[in-house]
Amino acid sequence: MLCISVKEFLLWKKKQLSKGGDNQSFDFLIECIGGISKGDLNFLSLNPENKLYLKKNLNHLESIWCDHLLNSSPIQYLCGTTFWRDLKLKVSDKVLIPRPETELIVDIVFKIFGKKSHKFFFAELGTGSGAVSIALALAYPLSDGIATDIDQDALEVATKNYRNYSKHSNLKFFCGNWWSPLESFKGKLDLAISNPPYIPKGTYEKLPKEVKNFEPKVALLGGEDGLIHLREIIQKAPLFLKEKGWLILENHFDQGEKVKQLLIKKKFTSIEIVKDLSGIGRFTIGRYK
Ligand SMILES: C[S@@+](CC[C@H](N)C(=O)[O-])C[C@H]1O[C@@H](n2cnc3c(N)ncnc32)[C@H](O)[C@@H]1O
Repeated sequence: MLCISVKEFLLWKKKQLSKGGDNQSFDFLIECIGGISKGDLNFLSLNPENKLYLKKNLNHLESIWCDHLLNSSPIQYLCGTTFWRDLKLKVSDKVLIPRPETELIVDIVFKIFGKKSHKFFFAELGTGSGAVSIALALAYPLSDGIATDIDQDALEVATKNYRNYSKHSNLKFFCGNWWSPLESFKGKLDLAISNPPYIPKGTYEKLPKEVKNFEPKVALLGGEDGLIHLREIIQKAPLFLKEKGWLILENHFDQGEKVKQLLIKKKFTSIEIVKDLSGIGRFTIGRYK
């Protein structure tokens, strides 16, 4: 623990931010590694002579900040943590940092299934850090879920995140290519969800370096047109969903209409393109017959 006056801390903060970066990332670092939330800091700042107790010393915090600025390393990987909905999740460079727009998938499920008491069987294909599945397993303790990923290292991160939040066992983790870990659950799912890699090759090559150089390629690249994984998932979905079972997919900003056509071809009904908070058709949902 380092004890320092608020005044001294704020001067140091100003110096760090003068090197570059944004306030939000800096506050994230101070919260995750320093142990002081923005709210606490604002409160303490009312009296600059107040004392702050930081979990790590200023040199340590500064070295992480400089790494972030010099190498464009995402602050979440450097801190090993991210915040998503009301969850604090571990992240490593084996998993995509779950994005704020993906939080809406949970709200779509709430809209379809109602909250809490509903009991259903769901699967998430490509769980990464486990964010979506963990949020659902916690929101629906009577339900059972399966979270899959092709990457065993990602599943280890997701399993640890689930263990940090739950002593129950209503979420299981399986490794494998899209539907293949679910062979024994054919025709049994009330709901399948996926936020698969959907970035087209040309766009992937031009991604900002904090994404391209750090986040797993396997979590981002969706082949030449971005749709290779979405096609495979939609193609086999009817084998695994119950009659009237729901499929919720996240897609790239301009893929909604194409995903809708793929769902129509496979005889899905109640198809809808759902917009994210920026008004982008980010999710395409449908029901199998
Ligand atoms: C866009 S990330 C989504 C991660 C997480 N669901 C989220 O929303 O933050 C896609 C995930 O799909 C996984 N994935 C990629 N190819 C896969 C495949 N063929 N089968 C299963 N999972 C795959 C990646 O490892 C990655 O974790």
